[in-house]
Order: sequence, then C-alpha cells, then structure tokens
Amino acid sequence: MESNSKTFTRCRADVDLGALEDNVRALRGLLPRNVSYLSVVKADAYGHGLPEVVERLAGCGVDLYGVANVTEAAAVRRIDPRRPILLLSALLPEEDPCLARYNLTATVSAEDEVARFDEAGRRAGRRIPVHMKIDTGMGRLGVWHEIAGALYRKLAEARHLELRGIYTHLSSADSDPNFTERQRLLFLETLEGFKGLAREELLIHADNSAGLDTFQPERGFNAVRIGLAQYGVIPGRHARHLLTRVELRPVCSLHTRVTLVKTLPAGTPVSYGQTYRLQSDARVAVLSAGYGDGIHRACGNRGSVLIGGQRCPILGQVTMDEVVADISGAGAVACGDQATFFGRQGGTEMSIREFSDSCGTIPWEVLCAITSRVPRVYSSSR
Ligand SMILES: Cc1ncc(COP(=O)(O)O)c(C=O)c1O
Repeated sequence: MESNSKTFTRCRADVDLGALEDNVRALRGLLPRNVSYLSVVKADAYGHGLPEVVERLAGCGVDLYGVANVTEAAAVRRIDPRRPILLLSALLPEEDPCLARYNLTATVSAEDEVARFDEAGRRAGRRIPVHMKIDTGMGRLGVWHEIAGALYRKLAEARHLELRGIYTHLSSADSDPNFTERQRLLFLETLEGFKGLAREELLIHADNSAGLDTFQPERGFNAVRIGLAQYGVIPGRHARHLLTRVELRPVCSLHTRVTLVKTLPAGTPVSYGQTYRLQSDARVAVLSAGYGDGIHRACGNRGSVLIGGQRCPILGQVTMDEVVADISGAGAVACGDQATFFGRQGGTEMSIREFSDSCGTIPWEVLCAITSRVPRVYSSSR
C-alpha cells in the first residue's frame, strides 16, 4: 500500500471544479454582456482552496476577483497576473505598499485612506486603482452616504489614484426586499450628487449573490460581486426571480469514514456531558471527524449524517475528532464506510443548507469553517 497520507484520508472535502465552472458560466449567462463579474474568492475561496479555484476561474470568463486582504490578493496575483483584484476589506497602513507591488485595487471609505493610498502611489511612481465604497445601511465599510460627496471630491483631486468603480454593500438582499430597494435608491441618489461623474467609465456595483436575484442593470449597475452562488448554494431559502433560471450545482461536499461500529444498551449516555441517553438498545457508528475538522458542535443532538444513503441522527456532543451517529436504521454498516455531512450518497442528498440549519448557522460559515486538517480532493465533473 502507498504511504501517501491522502491514501488514509479520514475526513475530506470533495471539490468539483467542473461544477464551479458550470455555475460561473450559468450565472454569467444571466447578465447582459456589458456587466462585469467579480468573483469573490476570499477566505480560501470560501474554503474550497484559493489556488485551485482561481486557476479554474481564470479560464471561465470572470472579469475581476474580490479578496479580503493582501495575503489573499498576492496568492491570486501569483496565478492570474492580469485581472484586477479588488480588496474588499480595509488595509492596515503597513500593507499600503502592497497595492503597487501586486497591482491591486483598494476600497476607499475615508479621507485618510485617500491620503495614504495617494502617497503609496506617489512612492511607487504610478496611479493606484481604487473603488469608492458608500455605506447605504450596512454600517460597516464605506463612507456614510450623506457625506460621500466630500470624499468623492478628494478622490477626484488625488493625483496618484485612479477611480475605477463605486459600490455599496447590501445587508439584507436575501431577507428584506424593501430595505434592499432603499439601499439601492440611496446609492443611486448619492451618485446623482457627484459632479462630473463619468459613470460609464466606472464599475457601479451593489449586488452579491442574493442581490443578483433582483439585479437591475437598467438602473446603471454594471458589475456584480458573486461568492456563495458560484459555489453552488442559493443564498436565501428560495430564488424568486433571476436565480430561478439557473440550476446551480454544489461544488463542495464533506465526507468522513466510519471507524467503529458497536451496539450499546438502552440507557447508555453518549459523548461528553451525557447530553444524550439511548432510549433503547442501538447500533452506533463512531465517525472520524469532529470540530477539529470544522464540524460545528451545535449539530450535536440536532443534525444527521448520511450513511448507506440513510439519514442517521448525530447522538450527543460533537467532539474534537469524533462524532457518534445512530445507525439503527441504516442497514449493514462497516468500519471504513463513508459518512456524509453534506453532499450526495447514491440517490440521497444532504444539502449544505440542511447541514448549516442543524448547526444553527449559515452555509458561508459552514464552508469557511472546514479546517486545514481536511484535505480538499479535486475533481471535475461535467
Ligand atoms: C463586499 C462583499 N461583496 C460581495 C460578497 C459576496 O457575497 P455572497 O457570498 O453572498 O455572494 C461579500 C461576501 O461576504 C462581500 O463582503
């Protein structure tokens, strides 16, 4: 037998780059040709593995990338020397020289950032591309919309900056259409107040995956910033408009292996803290994954895993390296069998949404929480 550690993988995340490519092409196909597609690849491409994802994306029609910080940006730049990379988060002052070094686009939310990035451009002897961000109700990054005009004027005067885009971030696109419309309106009204703005030369964007469902290019939006949907997950519970036209395929599935099968008598407590006690004699399987792999403790006593194509309840607390599942209803189960937290087993599927609900969290967090102990195993189905 080979002594390659991957041969002995206990918990693994399967990443289907063919599904990623199909999703991006399908999402791209929803948009008019003049609309730019910014692919969000921060947080290790939502846990899928940044280098592999970017390599694939570079070949399938994305126009620019979005990352959180300069470390991620440098990793993207190593793979794609050409496409713009927008830093979606703010920079620390010591990171400013990286803007020129890696040819990055900064987000500007405040006047002191204008001064800093202008100085970084002056020192590098070139103009730093920037997108201005306007806060229309997210309450996070961006200049508050009521005072955005002053920041716009500062930007227009900065000799070593080049304004390439203006954007806002929707806080509730998957849950509150009225608030979303208010944000879009505030954003567009704010732009109206900018004297001499050449909108057609800029990227004007607001929409994340959830916003894409009601994307409105006719109002002047000419770019979208897509994360979750390209990884095959619909952000809200249901698409209602544009997103009903695409069939997205989940890119990531998370599996582990059964390492022990045994029968326990009624009344036995299971796992730390005795939070579960067997009501009757039961067959249980010990699975080789726990919170050390990114399985949220919150799914203990709430979630299920697929074993042999059946939903098997998780018994007791999730521990660092093990989870116990009730396999009484699962037919023959043996050491080495596969258990699936989310993904397909034969004709049965456990969605990331179902798993994240059982963890009391959201699909974004489930994907980002998969730890480095879990090898990503790449394939490409079409
Ligand atoms: C500024 C910004 N735009 C776009 C996105 C992509 O969001 P989603 O994954 O919902 O498409 C994010 C993700 O957190 C973000 O922070």
